[in-house]
Amino acid sequence: MSVRIAPSILAADFARLGEQVLSAISGGAGLIHIDVMDGHFVPNITMGPLVVAAVKRVTALPLDVHLMITDPDRYLDAFARAGATTITVHVEAAPDLRKTLTRIRELGIRAGAAINPDTPVHTLSGVVDVLDHVIVMSVHPGFGGQAFIPGSLDKIRAVRDLVAGAGHGVDIEVDGGVDLTNAAVVAQAGASILVAGVSVFGTPDPAIATQTLLKAAQAGAASA
Ligand code: DX5
Ligand code: ZN
Repeated sequence: MSVRIAPSILAADFARLGEQVLSAISGGAGLIHIDVMDGHFVPNITMGPLVVAAVKRVTALPLDVHLMITDPDRYLDAFARAGATTITVHVEAAPDLRKTLTRIRELGIRAGAAINPDTPVHTLSGVVDVLDHVIVMSVHPGFGGQAFIPGSLDKIRAVRDLVAGAGHGVDIEVDGGVDLTNAAVVAQAGASILVAGVSVFGTPDPAIATQTLLKAAQAGAASA
């Protein structure tokens, strides 16, 4: 499976958002990661459907919407209308995960589930048939710029094994602290999408940063 980089606009300069997104795209970004935080599920507040719609106006790339919110069911329609390609909810915030994933699919959107660092992979085992996308959190969600938790590599491998029998393609995304020191091993472990916030938008040239990360990830995937 080919590997893609998903720059996270959480680390972008919001006063120049369109320009920053286009820069990452020129470096080979495969999708744009949008972190939605509600100040309740996580202790930070970020952006909502308006920002998804704004990014949609500047690119046709897939929009990868990561909902770090309580009661995600209430907002699925709004993010669908805004132009999300994938909507990922947290298993810790979705009391009926199967129902939520099924609803996302009914909206014509790829359905994702995210697991926090302390959440075991087996929480996904009963929903593999309705899952298009998994996010393995490699930091505790809430803020960009945190250090990658090394144990995440084993979780990526476990998710890879879990979805291998799904009978349909399931993207495995790793989110948090991805940079040039770990992009290759993350891809080698089985991640097909690498989220990158500070390691793209915290650099002077998001295009070059994206391109460099992509090359490292491709080398890692090739050695798997
Ligand atoms: C963290 C977010 C991440 C974050 C990643 O809660 O879900 O997507 O933006 O940022 P970096 O790559 O800077 O760790
Ligand atoms: Zn995220």
